[in-house]
Amino acid sequence: MRENDKILVDVKGLTKIYSLKRNIFSRSREFVTAVYDVNIRIKNGEIFGLVGESGSGKTTCGRILSRLEEPTGGQIFIKGVDIRLLKGQDLQGFRKNVQMIFQDPYESLNPRMTVADTVMEPLEVQRVGDYEEREYRVWKALKIVELYPPGDYLFRFPHELSGGQRQRVAVARALVVEPDFVIADEPVSMLDASIRAGILNLLLDLRTRLGLAYLFITHDLAVARYMCDRIGVIFKGKLVELGKTERLIGNPHHPYTKALLSAVPIPDPRAERERFRFEERELPEQTFDRSCVFLPRCAASGRICRKESPEMVEVEEDHYSACHLSTEM
Ligand SMILES: Nc1ncnc2c1ncn2[C@@H]1O[C@H](COP(=O)(O)OP(=O)(O)O)[C@@H](O)[C@H]1O
Ligand SMILES: [Mg+2]
Repeated sequence: MRENDKILVDVKGLTKIYSLKRNIFSRSREFVTAVYDVNIRIKNGEIFGLVGESGSGKTTCGRILSRLEEPTGGQIFIKGVDIRLLKGQDLQGFRKNVQMIFQDPYESLNPRMTVADTVMEPLEVQRVGDYEEREYRVWKALKIVELYPPGDYLFRFPHELSGGQRQRVAVARALVVEPDFVIADEPVSMLDASIRAGILNLLLDLRTRLGLAYLFITHDLAVARYMCDRIGVIFKGKLVELGKTERLIGNPHHPYTKALLSAVPIPDPRAERERFRFEERELPEQTFDRSCVFLPRCAASGRICRKESPEMVEVEEDHYSACHLSTEM
């Protein structure tokens, strides 16, 4: 195995169920299955995309992987270590190696902290070097994210920056401690279209220069295609298709992936593509317990789809789909 092929992140059977009390007087609870039995492996230096519409469980996966949230079930190994068991020094080390970039740079930066303090803080928490060393690292991180010359930005507050500059500060803050793994949760979806490409290219460039691996979360398949080596498509908490980017996009197997692709603008105006139905059908309550998660939206479902939830099956090399019909064909 080459160094690059080594598994960095191994997610096994990840499940998260939120329990919500209906109101303070009631004993009954409602449950939301945000993520169900998700299996993902991310290699060193790889960009793995998690793609799905709003509410499909992407952020929940990201938060669990960065230990901001506890899973209900399943295991996560990073560099072979079960992250739920980390304590003390090891947990501190984990907090350094795994960094998160959030969707909204307006929310994720403290409005009362200067750029210098924002980027310096993780170094202080991690007790990296002396003051001089930290100053140097902050300066270097700002340079890497192209806030140049750094001296022009160090003493500014978030409100004195544009959205794109803020997200660059957030990226600098994540990178200043030199992580191996970055979880980027919709990092450009709050930004103006005109500055998105700049941030995406920066993230791609940093992967090459620093050898980072990313879990790249997005609802936008076109963005995922641009960024990711492999893509996992998630629907209502379940992974429905997984494969190398070009294969998954060039030869999608799951009807949900096909539906997502039909919603992506097609560069060639003459190209015709079948438009998929996107409305949800009402199904009898008892259909849901063991049926396919995509059944309410599926135009092609057969009898077996009501009875059995499909497993992920390898449809071609390194390409998996969880659909009874797509794997039969
Ligand atoms: N803290 C929470 N409490 C209860 N339900 C939640 C919580 N966080 C997320 N959910 C629910 O879990 C599901 C997945 O949410 P999320 O992971 O945020 O999806 P995405 O990031 O793909 O939009 C949604 O139905 C959401 O309402
Ligand atoms: Mg989200």
